[in-house]
Amino acid sequence: MDIRNEKLGLVIPCHVAIIMDGNGRWAKKRHMPRTYGHAAGASNVKSVVRIADDIGVQYLTIYAFSTENWKRSAEEVSALMTLLKKYLHDYIGECNENNVRCRIIGRREGLREDLLAEIVALEEATKTNTGLQFTIAINYGGRDEITRAVQQIATEVQEGKLGPDLITEETISRHLDTRDLPDPDLLIRTSGEERLSNYLPWQLAYTEFYFTDVFWPDFGREELIEAVKKYNQRERRFGGVKS
Ligand code: IPE
Ligand code: IPE
Ligand code: MG
Repeated sequence: MDIRNEKLGLVIPCHVAIIMDGNGRWAKKRHMPRTYGHAAGASNVKSVVRIADDIGVQYLTIYAFSTENWKRSAEEVSALMTLLKKYLHDYIGECNENNVRCRIIGRREGLREDLLAEIVALEEATKTNTGLQFTIAINYGGRDEITRAVQQIATEVQEGKLGPDLITEETISRHLDTRDLPDPDLLIRTSGEERLSNYLPWQLAYTEFYFTDVFWPDFGREELIEAVKKYNQRERRFGGVKS
């Protein structure tokens, strides 16, 4: 449930989902390689987690690598995987200091063994933390996630554990990678693009969207508060009528 931050005079969305986009363009503007932008982007994640936690966000879910990002050059993909591995490894201490629980969603198959080991280590080391619930989407695609869920549900039907008529929206939600998370209240995408790029299509059905031209490495406290202010001006109806 959203909580009110009295100091800011704002209602804080319980679950914020972010498509952190624009690292490449941020680097290009500085005549630097794309990987320089990714490094700046990764360090900005740490800072945004702290800010989100500080203002009262309870769940934060960020898009780090999509199932479509494998289309990039081998060089860029490899640099991203190495950066992710390093980020997850270095992040354990900070998560535990701040009581942050970290989960990774997305397809595990196809990820490098060294990255998989860091994913398991970070999830395991932070699993009893009760503060901010932080989720990173790695090798994540919404269609892939739904396909995997359908495969599992079909297997349960085939094994006689589930009747087709008993499949509800709840059943589908329970088979998604996000089964332990509430649906996002606010989606933020940086860098001026206004599309989902296969991010959480099921979960974002009734989420408020906020787009900003700011590139991800420049997205900070001021920008997050601006997004929350816009969220406060929205009227969420969920298909009903204004009360
Ligand atoms: C977002 O930045 C990070 C990832 C998708 C991994 P981009 O790399 O997409 O940056 P732009 O969109 O090319 O500027
Ligand atoms: C979406 O950004 C994926 C992540 C932020 C990880 P992209 O930069 O890959 O999306 P498109 O290609 O512009 O749609
Ligand atoms: Mg991009």
